[in-house]
Amino acid sequence: MPELGVNVDHVATLREARGGKEPDPVRAAVICEQAGCDSIVAHLREDRRHINDVDIRALKKAVRTRFNLEMSINAGIVEIAKRVRPDQATLVPEKRQELTTEGGLSVLKNANRIGRVVEGLRKKSIDVSIFIDPDEREIRAAKDIGAGVIEIHTGRYADAKTKKAMDSEFERIKRSCEFALSLGFIVNAGHGLNYANTKRVARIKDINELNIGHSIISRAAFAGLYRAVRDMKTLCR
Ligand code: PXP
Repeated sequence: MPELGVNVDHVATLREARGGKEPDPVRAAVICEQAGCDSIVAHLREDRRHINDVDIRALKKAVRTRFNLEMSINAGIVEIAKRVRPDQATLVPEKRQELTTEGGLSVLKNANRIGRVVEGLRKKSIDVSIFIDPDEREIRAAKDIGAGVIEIHTGRYADAKTKKAMDSEFERIKRSCEFALSLGFIVNAGHGLNYANTKRVARIKDINELNIGHSIISRAAFAGLYRAVRDMKTLCR
């Protein structure tokens, strides 16, 4: 059974919609842990559109399971990560205009730079995972720079418009996981996973952890809405 990492970015997205203090992603992390998740994920984006520097310091203190900081390889962000020292860092590509991470980090194109970042973070005792596309060449390149953990990008599988496309993306993911496992990697997966498409990925043999955010926070809004209205109604009365 894979472990579950819950990404709390979109609790902060809701907070930023008003620029205030609630909802608090740290409080969300505590509830996720009480509910049995195995790690907490947060992405400190260069534009700070949701999670900010104060959040990651507070998450580092509050998280009891494992704090996995998603981050780009931007030098300023790497320095912050080294100071905060999360349990794990997941390296992702980042573009200012994107709504969310659009694909894996290309190790093939940035091997030297990523290699230096991996080494620098490891020296601070931070485990490093690299988010990559389900592509054998990328997996091999990650091996060549000495990475030990990868997260396979499941976004194209999740976004596939037809069953045929979805099946073919799933096969790519499965083959890539098997290949990465054969090279000795710890293999995680994530992006776009929801209540309809996760089971199939969770069944891939020896997959270590699934990282899921948007669908869980979306479901939480509806799962909690009834109670929230009842509580306000009581207060009005
Ligand atoms: N894994 C990585 C590397 C990501 O960048 C994201 C999005 O922040 C996720 C997992 C979670 O994706 P989603 O919010 O679509 O579940």
